[in-house]
This record gives sequence, structure tokens and C-alpha cells, in this order.
Amino acid sequence: MKLCFETDRLQFDPLSLDDLDLTVEQFGDPEVVKHVADRTYTEAELIEELPLYIRRAGDGCIGIWRLTEKATGEKIGTAILLPMPIEKDDTDWGLLDGGDISDGDIEVGYILKRSAWGKGFATEACTRMLRFAFEATPLDVVVACTATDNTASQHVLTKCGMKPLGTIHAYQEDIPGFRITKDEWRRL
Ligand SMILES: CC(C)(COP(=O)(O)OP(=O)(O)OC[C@H]1O[C@@H](n2cnc3c(N)ncnc32)[C@H](O)[C@@H]1OP(=O)(O)O)[C@@H](O)C(=O)NCCC(=O)NCCS
Repeated sequence: MKLCFETDRLQFDPLSLDDLDLTVEQFGDPEVVKHVADRTYTEAELIEELPLYIRRAGDGCIGIWRLTEKATGEKIGTAILLPMPIEKDDTDWGLLDGGDISDGDIEVGYILKRSAWGKGFATEACTRMLRFAFEATPLDVVVACTATDNTASQHVLTKCGMKPLGTIHAYQEDIPGFRITKDEWRRL
């Protein structure tokens, strides 16, 4: 499976230990983390976290990509394709009876540095992630969720063809969910 790919303006590569600078810019900025974490993180904390984060992405095999703007060589953010976290309190174990493991859904996501906002990069990245998911992997469905007031991200997801699911329970909150199937994606 080819894990390095590109769009007109962006290069996608698996996140690596060399990306501490990028994660500090992302997770040290209160505006960036506002909708994705409960607080900012210090460089010292991220030195501890980054190897775990990369491990969650299969040690660079799949999951978290660094986004680089091709024109400038600047790292502008990350995009993910990862399983929704399974959290004990969030899991409707009754669903398992029907063989429907909702928490096994694969979610798409993106976190851009503030300097990269408002240029269409999230839409470009999400569009490419969906193409990767449906062309290069066996996935039939991709989901996403956002904070209730993250209207910019909700707009990105619907622009990419994802359909609102209404409120879902994820990350221990009731928040807007989105979903797209491979068939829906083919028809875009
Ligand atoms: C949310 C985020 C990914 C958007 O990235 P971006 O590159 O600016 O997004 P795009 O430019 O591709 O598209 C944003 C769209 O939302 C619109 N938008 C921006 N702010 C908005 C707002 N407050 N309300 C409604 N729409 C808004 C933009 O006009 C644009 O739509 P358009 O192309 O139709 O004009 C970026 O701000 C970010 O990384 N934020 C921090 C992390 C985060 O929240 N990640 C998402 C977690 S679900």
C-alpha cells in the first residue's frame, strides 16, 4: 500500500518522530486545540506523547499523516484515518449482539496550524483521505465527528460529501456525526 501521496498543493507522509516541531505548533496553540483537546500541551509533554501517537498509527504504517505544503515545504498539519476510540463508558455493548460494532468505525480527521486555515487545505486533505480510504483500503464506510460548535469542520466534511448523522456519542460527548459509504463516494 502506498502511504506517501499528494494533491495539487499538499504532500502526505506518515507522521514521524521528526515532527515534534509540527505537533508543538498544533497542540501548543489554544485556538487549534479548542475543539480537539481539553488543553494545550507543552513541548516536554509532546516529547513523551509523540512516540505513542505514532505507535497508534502503526509506527508509520497507517493512520496519521503529516501534511506539507508543496510550494513552501512547510508542515501545515496532520490528517488521520484511525479507528474511533473504544471507551468503556461510550460503548453500547448491546450492539455487539447484532454483530454491529459501531465503535469499530474508521474516522477521518485533520488538525491544521492556525497559519494554514482558510485556504481550503482541510477540504483538500479530507477529499484525498477519503479517496485513499476507498481506493487503497478495503473500507466501505468512513465516519467523522466534530465539536458541536466547530462549524468550519462540519462544513469541510459536508463539502467532501459526508452526510450528517445527527448527534452521536463519541469521545464521551454527544456531538455531530458524519458518515460516507464507498457507494456514496463513488457517486460524488
Ligand atoms: C477546522 C479546520 C480544519 C478548517 O480548516 P481550513 O483549511 O480552514 O478549512 P477549509 O478552508 O478547507 O474549509 C473551511 C470552510 O468552512 C468555512 N468556515 C470557516 N469558518 C467557519 C465558521 N466559523 N462557520 C462556518 N463556516 C466556516 C470556510 O468558509 C470554508 O468553506 P468554503 O470553502 O465554502 O468557503 C481548521 O480550522 C483546523 O485545523 N482547526 C483546528 C483543529 C480542528 O478543529 N480540527 C477539526 C476537528 S473535527
